[in-house]
Parts: sequence; C-alpha cells; structure tokens
Amino acid sequence: MEGDDAIGDILVPAEDLERRVRELAREVSRDYAGKDLVLVGVLKGAVFFLSDLMRNLDVPCEVDFMAVASYGSATKSSGVVRILKDLDAVIEGRDVLIVEDIVDSGLTLQYLLRNLAGRNPRSLEVCALLVKPERREVDLHARYVGFEIPNRFAIGYGLDFDERYRGLPYVAALKE
Ligand code: IMP
Ligand code: MG
Repeated sequence: MEGDDAIGDILVPAEDLERRVRELAREVSRDYAGKDLVLVGVLKGAVFFLSDLMRNLDVPCEVDFMAVASYGSATKSSGVVRILKDLDAVIEGRDVLIVEDIVDSGLTLQYLLRNLAGRNPRSLEVCALLVKPERREVDLHARYVGFEIPNRFAIGYGLDFDERYRGLPYVAALKE
C-alpha cells in the first residue's frame, strides 16, 4: 500500500493515535470504575480503534457490535440508517459507551443514540476517535473525542474508501 497515490497528507500519525488512545483509555477507566461498562463498536470502521482502546482499559467491560448502513453516497451520509446487525447484549440498566471511528455530519450517531436510548441503559455516552466539526449537521455531544480533523475525506486506522485502506496505521486524507 506504500506508494499508493490515493494516500494524501497524513492527518494523524501513528504515534499520535497510540498516545491519544492510551489517554482516552485512562479517562474511560477512571470514569467507569465500578460501573457495568458495555462498549458498543460500530462496524466496521471502529474495530481498530475499539480494540486498541479496550486493550488499554483497566476496568472490566463487555464488547458488542452493531452494523448500520447509512443511505447516501460513498462520501456523504443521508441520516436514514438501517440496522444490518443488532447488539447481542441486553443493555437495559447498563453503562453503554458507543465507540465510533468518525463523526462527520453526526446523523448516523444521532440515529444510534436515539435507538439505544430507547432500550433504557443506565448511561449512554460516545467515544469518537475523530470528529469533523465543520461538517456537523446535528447537535450531539461526544464525551470522549480523540482528534478534530479538517473537512477532508479520511482513510486509515479503520476508515475506508470503498472498503480499502482500513489497515493503514495512521489517518491520512484521500487524495482527490
Ligand atoms: P455521519 O453520519 O455523516 O456522521 O457519517 C458517519 C459514518 O460515515 C462514519 O461512521 C464513517 O463510516 C463514514 N465516514 C464519514 N466521514 C468519513 C471519512 O472521512 N472517511 C471514511 N469514512 C467516513
Ligand atoms: Mg462508521
């Protein structure tokens, strides 16, 4: 993949990702001590971030996944979301932390928050590795955020363009 001419500027180098993920894990460990933590990863992009985050936690937790499809083009979501895979876990009365790779318009996350809130968890928060503040269309609060990035299409560390580039150890801009 080195030398691939679709890989543009590096937005977040690998060392910064590692350092920030450890910091976030420390905050989550502190905030969820004594709680009943369920990490909910949103497939597929969040898998990389989630596994690194979880490896660095020192509180017990369960992990589960949801897969959603957002209608729209390859680079823009519409906010109309369909659940492709639902949770296996019952989250009623539990402390749920949604782990997302990126919050772009926020429409996907808004849908997920409403959907999961309807199952009556004790608490429901968001941990997003990346946010693009310039693109936000809905007002939502992520308790934990890794990095704010500019309005570029990002690839790597879970993020794909047409299912490619997820395995890059850094986050780069897609060269247009
Ligand atoms: P939103 O609903 O607009 O917030 O978009 C959410 C989803 O779109 C994310 O979970 C990603 O899967 C995808 N997405 C948004 N921006 C990017 C990007 O820059 N690169 C890769 N995927 C993205
Ligand atoms: Mg995603």
